[in-house]
Amino acid sequence: MLQVKEIYKTYKKRGQIIKAVKGLSFEIKEKESFALIGPNGAGKTTTIKAILNLIDLDKGQITIDGQDVSYYETRKLIGYAPEIPYYPTHIPAIKLLQIYLELYEKKIEKEKIEYYFQLVKLENFMNTTLSNYSKGMQQRFSILQAIITEPKLLILDELTSGLDPIGQYEIIEIVKNLKNKTTILFTSHNLAEIEQICDNVMVINKGRSIFYGSISELKSQSNGDLYKIFFELITQDNQKINQEGF
Ligand SMILES: Nc1ncnc2c1ncn2[C@@H]1O[C@H](COP(=O)(O)OP(=O)(O)OP(=O)(O)O)[C@@H](O)[C@H]1O
Ligand SMILES: [Mg+2]
Repeated sequence: MLQVKEIYKTYKKRGQIIKAVKGLSFEIKEKESFALIGPNGAGKTTTIKAILNLIDLDKGQITIDGQDVSYYETRKLIGYAPEIPYYPTHIPAIKLLQIYLELYEKKIEKEKIEYYFQLVKLENFMNTTLSNYSKGMQQRFSILQAIITEPKLLILDELTSGLDPIGQYEIIEIVKNLKNKTTILFTSHNLAEIEQICDNVMVINKGRSIFYGSISELKSQSNGDLYKIFFELITQDNQKINQEGF
């Protein structure tokens, strides 16, 4: 369903060139849950921004069902909850959603909107402005605005970061509920979460793929402790980069 082919992205910052993504390729099948994992600065959000066509790539191509993501019609198939969400805080949540739906040129009946509010456990806060939402509620609203258009591809970038364990648990339960209903691209630094949600993963380090396969294949690498496996993969790759210099 999603095909990412040999993508490259460099940023220029104060005369410096930052190679954020260096030849990443992967594929996500229909209704699969896929995670991008990697240390801070590995290139996860850059890859997501490329899928959303928010940045221009130096090289490579991204398609959904064979259609390039540079087409507006293709991007309408995506629902996105960003790493750092900014929503207008003075508008009641339901009004905000109605505005999004208009932007997406999508008509969804009131009962369905209420159903989605229930799904993210915000049904008692439909007329509340986001300035009165806690961080956990705002993150659940983020999922809500991403799923309200019933996207074919749902992208969730570090949704649980900064939430207390209850907030994290609530988000994970919601995402587990969505699993197998739509295609999910997920990022998180919480590997226990990834294990619960995702079928396949790509581990990236410094813009390159260092593992691509199923969670069980990844776990089979070293006694099944994902944190240890991740630590070993990254440190070995960093040593290789230091020695070989690429
Ligand atoms: N707009 C930008 N201008 C310059 N450099 C950028 C920009 N956005 C990202 N970068 C750099 O590109 C690299 C990849 O960043 P990216 O945000 O994709 O990483 P990430 O894997 O999402 O990290 P995190 O886990 O911290 O969210 C980093 O070195 C980052 O500093
Ligand atoms: Mg990021």
